[in-house]
Amino acid sequence: MKVIKFKEINSTNAYLKDNYKSLDNLTFVVAEHQTEGRGRLGRCWVDQDDLLFSILVKENIDKPTDYSLLIASTLLKVLNAYKPQIKWPNDIMINNKKVCGILLEGITKEKQECVIIGVGINVNTESFPEDLRIKATSLKNITNNKIDKEELLSEICKVFVNDYNDYIENKSDYLKQIRENFYLANKEISFIYNQKEFFGKVKGMDVFGNLLVETNDGLITLNSGEVTLNKEYEK
Ligand code: BTN
Repeated sequence: MKVIKFKEINSTNAYLKDNYKSLDNLTFVVAEHQTEGRGRLGRCWVDQDDLLFSILVKENIDKPTDYSLLIASTLLKVLNAYKPQIKWPNDIMINNKKVCGILLEGITKEKQECVIIGVGINVNTESFPEDLRIKATSLKNITNNKIDKEELLSEICKVFVNDYNDYIENKSDYLKQIRENFYLANKEISFIYNQKEFFGKVKGMDVFGNLLVETNDGLITLNSGEVTLNKEYEK
């Protein structure tokens, strides 16, 4: 495992996309600030005092989407003291607010070349822009204490490498952590499936980490993608 640090960069995900060929499996890239931080669905990730990093995975990538839940499982363990939950498959929530986002990207040519796991954790940010205020929080807002980002990162690196090795040996083990801290249980959501919008109630997760949703058209199994909580659950 190697860690490359930047004071400022466009995006740690973009850096790994550009340089993956010459870098080793499990290279971590960390930045204090990103000028073009990326979020999911083409959104921007604007940082203040966040922990921003990406992990390059080049081996054992036959099921790339597994890495959303694998890194989520690592983060749930490391942030355990804050009582975190996973909003399947990409957000970590604390007290019903988002504290961390995950952006999974891949490069595929004739075959899958690599998976890039981007993570942004709101660590010491104190105030959020108006539109995010009711939806987002930071570790500092929760504890009233400034968090040592270096320490947090080194714990995440250590636990992730361990989880990655376990995953190679026992593919479903990491899902236990996800199941035990499952934010969407019994909540009503909407989502796009086969280019159509569906509404339904979350029933749980299958043994592969897919989301099971009961809809008017029957049980739908989602293996990746964005889900939106129905309004009454948005706090
Ligand atoms: C989301 O919730 O939309 C995902 C946000 C992911 C942000 C992180 S910050 C580090 C890495 N580099 C990026 O450009 N994005 C991810």
